[in-house]
Amino acid sequence: MVRIKKESDDRILYGLVMSRFSKLTETSTSLEQKIEDIVYQKDAWTNTPPSILAKLPRRLHQQQDHPISILRNLIENHFQQFKAISPASAIVTTHMNFDELGFPADHPGRSLTDSYYLNQTHMLRTHTSAHEVETFRAGNDKWLLSADVYRRDEIDASHYPVFHQMEGARVWTRDQLQELKDLNAKMAEELAACPLVIEDISMTSESNPYQPQHDPEMAKEIAQNLKHSLNSMIFQLFGRLKAKSTDEEPLKVRWIEAFFPFTTPSYEVEVFWNGEWLEILGCGVVMQKTLDNAGAPQKLGWAFGLGLERIAMILFSIPDIRLFWSEDSRFLRQFQEGKINTFKPYSKYPPCYKDLSFWLPEEKNPKEAHGAKAAGGGMTSIKPFHENDFCEIVRDVAGDLIESVTPIDEFTNKKTGRNSKCYRLNYRSMDR
Ligand code: PHE
Repeated sequence: MVRIKKESDDRILYGLVMSRFSKLTETSTSLEQKIEDIVYQKDAWTNTPPSILAKLPRRLHQQQDHPISILRNLIENHFQQFKAISPASAIVTTHMNFDELGFPADHPGRSLTDSYYLNQTHMLRTHTSAHEVETFRAGNDKWLLSADVYRRDEIDASHYPVFHQMEGARVWTRDQLQELKDLNAKMAEELAACPLVIEDISMTSESNPYQPQHDPEMAKEIAQNLKHSLNSMIFQLFGRLKAKSTDEEPLKVRWIEAFFPFTTPSYEVEVFWNGEWLEILGCGVVMQKTLDNAGAPQKLGWAFGLGLERIAMILFSIPDIRLFWSEDSRFLRQFQEGKINTFKPYSKYPPCYKDLSFWLPEEKNPKEAHGAKAAGGGMTSIKPFHENDFCEIVRDVAGDLIESVTPIDEFTNKKTGRNSKCYRLNYRSMDR
């Protein structure tokens, strides 16, 4: 644990950050790495630091009495008859995470600045959708799959490089149209009796169409069932809390059009909470290619993926996402299976701001670079600066003491043309 207190500590921190920053521009040597008893060859894609690999065994979604696990259980109990699944490992192939789901080759999510790779073919899943094909292939028609997911990101109170998602899906065969219609009629009636305001500005349009191979009537019923199922889940989770609050307004949910490579039509759902719209999940009608790939071309249905931390932070009033990783008993003992207790802060430490500025690596001028290539030396490519790389170094040095990293200034030296950036780092301990 890095102690950041005195002037000299700032200099140590600065030195650490800068030495790691220069390491980022080096190409990694080809070595192997053993993770969960499997050996992975390192290559130019390897970018997962030990601090992230250390999260693999934590499995907060399965830790009894942990808020993430409590929420998972609440949702699993709501979706009666859905099979609950939790994959054994967070390591998936890039094929599962992207290709199989129809992500284009140039999708930004594939970049080294956004995802954690073990090598060119294996990575830490960025979403639970990575398991859709294998779960459908195993013959499941109604299922919920919970897991830890990994993304390189900015640093603030609601972003952490590891978080938890729950994927849910339900499929039917084409001859079940009447059954589906009856189910929808029943669900619509139940929902009408709930104090819930549903704003649905989503449409099926040219940019968010039904799939050509689907009977439009069946696709419409599937989208309807998706909406009923999620509205009812949201009411179950938030309704009680809303009723207890002093606010007279009923719970408000909003459906908006979205885009995912593996669903169409696609939607995002937001809940109105404490005066703002909060996005909690993405969903849609499963792209038929996914079910074809899974050997189930006769089935069609919906899928959703929701962020457990986002919802848990609201339900349990947890103000900072780092708290979920706390092993302090003052945090852990506040929660019990089946209960939504309000978190009581046990230590209030002040924020501690430090500003850090640095020059960006100089890019080679094009003439020079061309000359080097012509001479057979190869291009010495300097990696362009990306904020996610910087944030990762900060996390690596400061661990969970870092609360936020905010860009506050930029500067270009007119004479030399060099650029510099300045970031404000805010440290605050959650526990001590
Ligand atoms: N996997 C998507 C995400 O992480 C969410 C999603 C799941 C969207 C299933 C549609 C269907 O953003």
